Amino acid sequence: MNALELNAICKTFGSQRALDNITLAVPSGSRTVIVGPSGSGKTTLLRMIAGFESPDSGSLSLNGKVLLDSTRDVPAHQRRIGYVPQDGALFPHMNVAANIGFGLATKGHARDERIAELMDSVALDSNMATRWPHELSGGQQQRVALARALAQQPSLMLLDEPFSALDTGLRTAMRKMVARLLADAGVTAILVTHDQGEALSFADQLAVMRQGCLVQAGQPMALYLHPRDEQTALFLGEAVLMPARIENGWAECDLGRIAVNHQGRSKTAQIMLRPEQLQVSPASPDGTGCRGVITERDFGGNTCTLSVTLVAGTLEPGRSLPVHCPGLMAPAIGSAVKLTTVGQAHVLKS
Ligand SMILES: Nc1ncnc2c1ncn2[C@@H]1O[C@H](COP(=O)(O)OP(=O)(O)OP(=O)(O)O)[C@@H](O)[C@H]1O
Ligand SMILES: [Mg+2]
Repeated sequence: MNALELNAICKTFGSQRALDNITLAVPSGSRTVIVGPSGSGKTTLLRMIAGFESPDSGSLSLNGKVLLDSTRDVPAHQRRIGYVPQDGALFPHMNVAANIGFGLATKGHARDERIAELMDSVALDSNMATRWPHELSGGQQQRVALARALAQQPSLMLLDEPFSALDTGLRTAMRKMVARLLADAGVTAILVTHDQGEALSFADQLAVMRQGCLVQAGQPMALYLHPRDEQTALFLGEAVLMPARIENGWAECDLGRIAVNHQGRSKTAQIMLRPEQLQVSPASPDGTGCRGVITERDFGGNTCTLSVTLVAGTLEPGRSLPVHCPGLMAPAIGSAVKLTTVGQAHVLKS
């Protein structure tokens, strides 16, 4: 069953179309991640779901109950939706414990215990309970905001870049912890992030927005390997793009003959592979295969991104292809290599 259903939501600010006909279903208990360039409408969409913004048209229902359509607009405090805004937005005149306990109905000892439990669940030390928001780091403020939203036991949780102020290690730990907390509580969640890795790992469903439109939604791996267009492909990670002749399920291109997921008529099209689908090995002495030269090497720890320029072919001069290889096995700049491909290429829409 779908927990949340958005249908043809539109919102304009002056002449700015912030949301353009958004239709999206979020299955019960699942995690949907929204990604998109700055200004594409992600926060506006969350605020609208939470009830802080009214759309110009469209409808929205949660667990089968209509919260918004042309005749009704259920106010935010009656929606049972938890919202962790982009900036945390803690109440500045309340300490950490008061912020977290803001919406708790319990009093006295039970309330203190629940606050301590919530602080523990977001890895905040209990001695921070009496601190003021301005005495916290950005990452600590985000965790207080998260605990405050969890305290409401929402049926839907909206998280707008909740881990952006955390360092890499804590960010990964928090992400896993939040995923577990939400799953244990059976809470449906929508998360906005600018971090592609985070989006791909956290999401059951990934939704890509651009200029107020929902460009594509689906399982993370499906979007990563089969993006709708070049912009979406590049938004979700590095991509190897090249022109090819497509015929009978095969692409003929500078990299050789590669299987593609396209049947239909023969045509010329742009194909896409992910950099980890290219493999480099020492160039064969007889010069066979697709040959290239390493022109750049970007050491990134466990993975190294190589730039490889092909020795022959149709690509414009100076254009290089990104290749990922294990960091400790990266060939030196200037090495002559042979390029082979793994798996299918994806044919992009022209
Ligand atoms: N209250 C408002 N009044 C006027 N314009 C607004 C308002 N809120 C948002 N906008 C505009 O709507 C568009 C979408 O904004 P939104 O905050 O939803 O983007 P976003 O995808 O969350 O961006 P970011 O990744 O930078 O947070 C932007 O062009 C923004 O300037
Ligand atoms: Mg935003």
